[in-house]
This record gives sequence, structure tokens and C-alpha cells, in this order.
Amino acid sequence: MDKIRIRGGISLKGDIKISGAKNASLPLMAACLLTDKPLYLCNVPNLSDISSMAQLLSQLGVSVTRHKDTNTVELCANNLSSTTAPYDVVRKMRASVLVLGPLVAREKQTHVSLPGGCAIGTRPIDLHLKGLEALGALISLEEGYVHAKAPHGLIGAPFTFPTVSVTGTENLLMAATLAKGQTRLMNSAREPEVGDLAHCLNAMGAKISGIGTDTLVIEGVDKLESTTHSVIADRIEAGTYAMAAALTGGEICLLGTTLQLFPTLSTLLKRAGVTLKETQNCLTVKAPTTRLQGVDVMTEPFPGFATDLQAQWMALMSVAKGAAMITETIFENRFMHVPELCRMGANITVHGSSALVRGVNKLKGAPVMATDLRASVSLVLAGLVAEGETLINRVYHLDRGYEKLEEKLRGCGADIQRL
Ligand code: UD1
Repeated sequence: MDKIRIRGGISLKGDIKISGAKNASLPLMAACLLTDKPLYLCNVPNLSDISSMAQLLSQLGVSVTRHKDTNTVELCANNLSSTTAPYDVVRKMRASVLVLGPLVAREKQTHVSLPGGCAIGTRPIDLHLKGLEALGALISLEEGYVHAKAPHGLIGAPFTFPTVSVTGTENLLMAATLAKGQTRLMNSAREPEVGDLAHCLNAMGAKISGIGTDTLVIEGVDKLESTTHSVIADRIEAGTYAMAAALTGGEICLLGTTLQLFPTLSTLLKRAGVTLKETQNCLTVKAPTTRLQGVDVMTEPFPGFATDLQAQWMALMSVAKGAAMITETIFENRFMHVPELCRMGANITVHGSSALVRGVNKLKGAPVMATDLRASVSLVLAGLVAEGETLINRVYHLDRGYEKLEEKLRGCGADIQRL
């Protein structure tokens, strides 16, 4: 199994091209199921989660052509052969559940395995199901599968999410495009990836308004058409590299992203002493000349601080001056990086959903174990600033969400190798 070895202590300097967003690409790929016309997606990152989604769509009968050299994907669902998303695929990648809404809307039935637990919590899909029921779908759960039917098609209706759900919003948004009449989705997720999906759906002929707000209004249409869409930049990847610059006393120019994509992170970074400067198509992140300042954060739905950046913020705060309280409000079990960071010398204590990080002068390299995607990258960040050698095991988690991680960091001077 691959490992990553980092020899830390180098200030990172250089340019990093930010890839297309994984969390935008996955629902966009699922959107191909809404039409028998081809969907062309550009700026799709080359990641294992994208391969998993491509594999699932192929199993359903979608023709998938991926050009990894140009990061484009052509998808055409004109000859579907199945409406079942099997356990093996959904178990590996929870986002497989994104085929549920499009399939029930267009094929009027689907069978999707329940995702089950995952490393960061129970992560139910009850809201996806309640929302589809509100649109008239008949849902039953048997032998670990969700069976959803709408023999006469879905019917537009109002639905309020009791909790903000990103993929829940995306599933219902896609389903509602082909429902009869108007759907109003309230307390919807406002994440930029939801907006990217909505823009693509509109380009395919959907009628969605309220994009970027928490109320999405969808007027159903009979069918959707072909389009070409370019995926937005990955704000989590950009935020991670911004923190790599801040943590190592460096300066990195992030190409192809904007401050708009992470409003709260940029405010917090500035509070910690980091300088951010936006020029055309480039965001320069420069560490302070003195020590970073400890800053508290709480994870929240967009535009709040992203839970997918929490582990990285903890690595950053591990070496900041003073203490920082990090509160996780989205997932119940998302502090698995804490013991690993502590093995590298961090001083962190967890109290329920909050972690108190008392900044130390330096971290020390150690062998560590990656547990999930974002936890893994927080160990990479810690390794970049730690004295000596850090060996990260189970790096397949990183390949789910970070395209060319070692190459991008090496381009800024990091001593990082995959073994
Ligand atoms: C998406 C992102 C993930 C990110 C998360 C939160 C994708 C592919 N994944 O995951 O990277 O960490 O948003 O920003 O975009 N919940 C329920 N019932 C449901 C659905 C969700 O109780 O039916 C709860 C979840 O357990 C969690 C909260 O709602 O506590 C938010 O989860 P949600 O936004 O749905 O996360 P995902 O869409 O799975």
C-alpha cells in the first residue's frame, strides 16, 4: 500500500493550479441521467471518486468517455440498462446516492443501496427520501436498498429541509427539474457546488431560480438537452494549499480560484495574520513574518466555515500562538486526526464537539495513519511544517480528493515522495 514521506520544515513558494471541484463534478456527472442527450463536462479532476462515479454510471448503461489528459468527460444516458446502484459502489463512495433523484425523475423508478456508516459519522439520507416523497415518490426500504417509484412521474411541491444537506439539495434539485409544476426547496444548501449544478441544469434547459440563495424555485420541464459545462474550482483544495503556505511561512499563488469561493476561510486566515491578495485569476497567500495567531472556528453550512477544512485548520492552529477552539457542528465524529496530530507533538484536547488546540513551538515528524480524506491532508500539512520525517499510511484517502498532490507541493519546494 502506498505511503507518503515528507521531510518537513521547508517554506513553500510557487504557483499551484487549482483543479476542478470534486464535490461539483460528482453531482454534475449524475445529472447526465436526466437526459438522453450528451453532457460534456470540462475541468473534471482526475480522482478516484470520479472513477467510482464513472463506474457506477457505466453500470447503469451510461456511455462514459473520460479524457484524463484534458480533464473532460462525455456522458450519454441514451440507452440505460439498469436503475440499480449496488451496495459495492455506494459503500465505497457515499455520493453515489446522487443517482437517486435523477433516476426516479426520468426512469420513474430506482433501487439505490443505503450508504451505511462512514468514518466521519452515521450520515443518513432520510432528508433525500423525505424530499422525494414530498414530490410524490413512493419509497420503501428493503434488504438494505431504497426502492423509489413514481409511476406517473414526480409532481412539484414545496419542501423545507430541516437540516441543510448538500447532496440532499442536489438530489432534489435534479429530480425537480423533470417534475410536473413548481418545486420550492427551502433551507437549501448554498454551497457553490450546488450553484454550479443549478447553472449547468439551466444550460440543459431546466428552469431554476434563486441560485445561490437558500430558496431554490424549480419550474419542471418535459425534457433536458445537451450542454457543455466547465466545473468550478475546488475551494477545499484551494483552502488546503492556502493553509500550506500559511503554515510553512511561505507564499503560494493559487491559480484559477477566487476569494468569493471561501469567504469565511479568508476572513479567518487574515485574523491569523495571513495576507491574501487577489489579482486576475490568481490568489496569493502569504504567511506572516511573525508566528500565526490562534483563531477559533466553528464549522457551518456555506457561507460559514466548511467542515471539509476543519482538520486542516487544526493542523494550522497546532503551531499558532495561543489557543484556538475548533467546534464541529456538521458531523459527529470528525476529530479522528486529533490523536495523529498529537503523535506529532500537537497539544489538543477534545471536549464533545469542540477541540481545544494549544499552539506548540514545533511539531515533530512521525509515522501516522490517515483515516479519511480531509484528516489525511491535515497530516500532510502537519508533516510539511514538522521537524524531520513524517510517514503517512493509507494514502488512498488522499487520492479520492487531491489531484497531483505531491506534484503540486513539490512544485513549491516541498520534500514529499510517494513510496
Ligand atoms: C457534502 C460533501 C462533503 C461535506 C458535506 C458538508 C459532497 C459529495 N460531499 O456531503 O464533502 O463534508 O457536504 O458540507 O458534496 N443529514 C441528515 N440526513 C440527510 C442528509 C444529511 O441528517 O438525509 C445530516 C448529515 O448527517 C450531516 C448534515 O446533515 O450531519 C450535513 O450533511 P450533508 O450536507 O448532507 O453532507 P453530504 O451532502 O453527504
